[in-house]
Amino acid sequence: MRSWTTCHVVLLSCLIHSVSAHNDFFTSIGQMTDLLFTEKDLVTSLKDYIQAEERKLEQVKQWAEKLDSLTSIATQDPEGFLGHPVNAFKLMKRLNTEWGDLENLVLKDMSDGFISNLTIQRQHFPSDEDQTGAAKALLRLQDTYQLDTQSISTGDLPGTSVKLPYRSTLTVEDCFELGRIAYSESDYRHTEVWMAQALKQLDEGEESSVEPVMVLDYLSYSVYQQGELERALDFTRRLLELDPEHQRANGNLKYFEYQLAKQRKAGEDLRYRRSEGAEPEREESEGRKGVKKDNLPEKKKYEQLCRGEGIKMTPRRQSRLFCRYYDNNQHPRYLLGPVKQEDEWDRPYIIRYHDIISEWEIEKVKELAKPRLRRATVHDPQTGQLTTAQYRVSKSAWLTANEHSVVDHINQRIEDLTGLDVQTAEELQVANYGVGGQYEPHFDFGRKDEPDAFKELGTGNRIATWLFYMSDVAAGGATVFPEVGAVVRPIKGTAVFWYNLLPSGEGDYSTRHAACPVLVGNKWVSNKWIHEHGQEFRRRCGLHEMD
Ligand code: OGA
Ligand code: FE2
Repeated sequence: MRSWTTCHVVLLSCLIHSVSAHNDFFTSIGQMTDLLFTEKDLVTSLKDYIQAEERKLEQVKQWAEKLDSLTSIATQDPEGFLGHPVNAFKLMKRLNTEWGDLENLVLKDMSDGFISNLTIQRQHFPSDEDQTGAAKALLRLQDTYQLDTQSISTGDLPGTSVKLPYRSTLTVEDCFELGRIAYSESDYRHTEVWMAQALKQLDEGEESSVEPVMVLDYLSYSVYQQGELERALDFTRRLLELDPEHQRANGNLKYFEYQLAKQRKAGEDLRYRRSEGAEPEREESEGRKGVKKDNLPEKKKYEQLCRGEGIKMTPRRQSRLFCRYYDNNQHPRYLLGPVKQEDEWDRPYIIRYHDIISEWEIEKVKELAKPRLRRATVHDPQTGQLTTAQYRVSKSAWLTANEHSVVDHINQRIEDLTGLDVQTAEELQVANYGVGGQYEPHFDFGRKDEPDAFKELGTGNRIATWLFYMSDVAAGGATVFPEVGAVVRPIKGTAVFWYNLLPSGEGDYSTRHAACPVLVGNKWVSNKWIHEHGQEFRRRCGLHEMD
């Protein structure tokens, strides 16, 4: 029986306020938190500016009111009024100096402080690339987790509660922007659904600067691109009701009508030929019926597993998975305090260790990594060089054993529990996945046909992977193994471990795995890739096979 209960500890939000080199904000939440604090400071500065502007306006108003009553009295009996020498003197003074002072006051720019703050801070603001990246991440999440635009727009996502103070909604402008980004990527399906959402919100009466005509223009084009002429025509007609002079729409109307008439004619000809005894065309879907679920492309399997569907574990196999206390053959450091071990999967054998890294250690590791987080890189199989890629969206940093005792202790723990030499392992890698952050299916080991990715290290291939989960993830973010249909959920304070190589030294292809996109929340992991060299004894004796 598997029985460990895990406590979900609310993530301490990290308040480190560092100015980091600007690169791909959207790929990790760690550095995005800084932006929130910057924004908060800017709001304070903006409010100061508003107050100053209000004080100024108040002065101007008082002046206007004073002069209003004065001039109306004075003009009732101008000569009588000026017959009073003080009035005459004051009129001279007002006109000669006081109106000038007022002019200066009106011209005075109260926005200096705010504008200079904004100018300075803007140097660290996200770029167009960040905005597009965040939008694309949202579109990716929409697909992977099969979310509809309404749920996204109302902020009603799995793992979020209605009570959350920060459940946020999308405005017509936001939906329109997502549609436009999809359009710029020639992604007409997403263009359609987001423009439709924008239109729906407009129809429901939401105030917006986005014109329905613009939305309809995108809508008709995107459905046309998807081959839906009739709907394209409907949208174009609706557009023309609002703006009968719209040039492009008028042109499109004629074109769509013409195409539709042609299509209908072709349909009629076909029906006629059939009634004359011609062979019916074969249904396109016939071939598809035979497609077995197993033959799904890997991407589909990966997405399914991310949604928690298609997990391939039989009750029989499940009954052979156990939990136990483990001291690694009476290892002196674990004899008195064995650790909790849980079988996560059988083939490949994946073990989870519970309560294996403390809250304090997690915070320390994050603190050390934060200022150094950079967009994660992958080996380009063609060149063997490191590059960034869409399929791996996260930020990571490497921590060495000598920079803090916590890193050293962690490395030692891995060595003690796995019995593997970590001298030859890579440094501890810390990774932070923001919303939409993911790592598509890959092997951790180097393949034979690749230029030797680990050659420079001179320590052989990656024999095993140790992966700490340093956060819970509200929704999404599981580690999945598409070849075998396994899902490993992130649980804060636990770690999973598996061998990437078979005892023969060959890569174990069943270990292909991926990190699902984070849907809601923030995912922190750290991992240790253990290498072959130094493990000869273990490999010869095949000690890592599951009994
Ligand atoms: C990796 C990896 C999985 C995860 O970094 O190689 O597979 O869940 N990570 O983060
Ligand atoms: Fe991996």
